[in-house]
Amino acid sequence: AILLDNIVLRNASAYRSYDYQVKLYDDYVKKDGIEMADIYSARAGYSEHQTGLCTDINIIDSSFDDSPESNWLAKNAYKYGFILRFPRNKEKVTGYKYESWHYRYVGVKVAKIMYDNDLSLEEYYAYYVENK
Ligand code: DAL
Ligand code: ZN
Repeated sequence: AILLDNIVLRNASAYRSYDYQVKLYDDYVKKDGIEMADIYSARAGYSEHQTGLCTDINIIDSSFDDSPESNWLAKNAYKYGFILRFPRNKEKVTGYKYESWHYRYVGVKVAKIMYDNDLSLEEYYAYYVENK
């Protein structure tokens, strides 16, 4: 599908070990301080990168926002079972800053429900899994 639309996507970071996430988070804390680091990086043991279910695509910073590639993903990734994990309008719900590059696999059925209803994974879980 991406080739038909002349889009090039590559994995920039997918599975990360616990030790790797420790180092990444610690480096961010050194650079920006704990408060800032906590809004864009998960602590080791809390990152879904450790599950292997997500991938950061092409460019891991805000220069990826509103690019043809990130716009393509925002519109089409759900058809292949992937969801934008930290949307712009859900920062208070997810607890993380908007990440236009971070996609998580949830399967086609769940991805479509989330996309059609504009739900974050937290909201999907609360409404559809816990029935709140
Ligand atoms: N950037 C995301 C929140 C992570 O570190 O898993
Ligand atoms: Zn990520």
